[in-house]
Amino acid sequence: MKTTCPFAAMADEINSICAKTFQKIQPDGSYRRTFHAPLIANLEGELEIFSAVPTPYRLGLFLEPKTYKVTARFSSSLFANENYPDARGMALTIHAVSGPVCEEAPEGEHTIVTINQPTFIARDAEDMLAFMRKMDGVKELTPFNVAPPTYTFPSLNPLKARWGFVQAMLCTLGQAFRRRDITQYQYNSLSPYRLGTSAMKYQFRPASTPMGKGRTLRERLHSHLLQTDLVFDFFIQPKTLATDLVDDLFQVWQSPTHLVGRLTFPVQDILATALFTEGERLSYNPWHCLQAHEPLGSINALRRVVYKNSALRRLT
Ligand code: HEM
Repeated sequence: MKTTCPFAAMADEINSICAKTFQKIQPDGSYRRTFHAPLIANLEGELEIFSAVPTPYRLGLFLEPKTYKVTARFSSSLFANENYPDARGMALTIHAVSGPVCEEAPEGEHTIVTINQPTFIARDAEDMLAFMRKMDGVKELTPFNVAPPTYTFPSLNPLKARWGFVQAMLCTLGQAFRRRDITQYQYNSLSPYRLGTSAMKYQFRPASTPMGKGRTLRERLHSHLLQTDLVFDFFIQPKTLATDLVDDLFQVWQSPTHLVGRLTFPVQDILATALFTEGERLSYNPWHCLQAHEPLGSINALRRVVYKNSALRRLT
């Protein structure tokens, strides 16, 4: 007997709002990604998994030391105008991995989807649905309407306020003013993934000196990669503390992190590769991954339905 996902109805409602409000038909009749449509660059690289992964974590992707080919997509979350405060995304597909994958996932692919913030705009699936309902029907997204006051403060009771949303927004604002170089951000999965009988989060920390010059994020990345490799240290954060919660993306976990590998984008002319344009037909879905690292928590349950349908609408 097939079990029904307890978040199926929420996911369907969010999917309808995505189709109506966020993934609008373009003037040429095409559809773009529902979120993270503004492309910074599609890149080719390598992910090395180190031999020194601590024993209890040597499973799935971390079973053995190995170097994998990766494709990656850097994006802005909502706005094509880089002067607007916005989260930046780094989505990775790791190719030719071994092991069973999640249902409907392509064989041999392991995807990791990250953004340059430590927390999300919704604590859990219920919050996400509340946020999407507030945004439903908005004609055009602007920095002024993406923070609906009645989502942040659903009542006059300050104890019921979504302070985690305020924290995520302040972080986006801070990043926008402090640093405008995507080679220098830390990228976090925010949501947890299976690791043995427990959970983990992924992190990529910048490990190369900024070299890029230029006006835009893409120009600076292009200039960086013409001169030198772009490198990130790859960490996992296994959940070892009972106080770290699986279903609370407002929370920053306190469990220790472990260096497990290195992500390298070798020198390349990002504007000259076929991937630069062809990459827009790829889909980075957090459920396209090894079963050993299955996405966990209610937000990830929603993502299973929403990413699939976003890709179906734009690619068929
Ligand atoms: C853990 C929190 C999340 C993170 C880190 C995250 C990050 C990202 C990133 C980086 C992308 C761009 C992928 C690409 O370049 O192809 C993306 C796309 C997308 N995200 Fe999320 N996201 C999160 C949560 C959510 C949630 C809660 C939803 C909705 C319920 C959502 C819906 C989408 C959709 C529809 C796409 C476009 C997928 C496609 O058309 O291929 N995301 N997300």
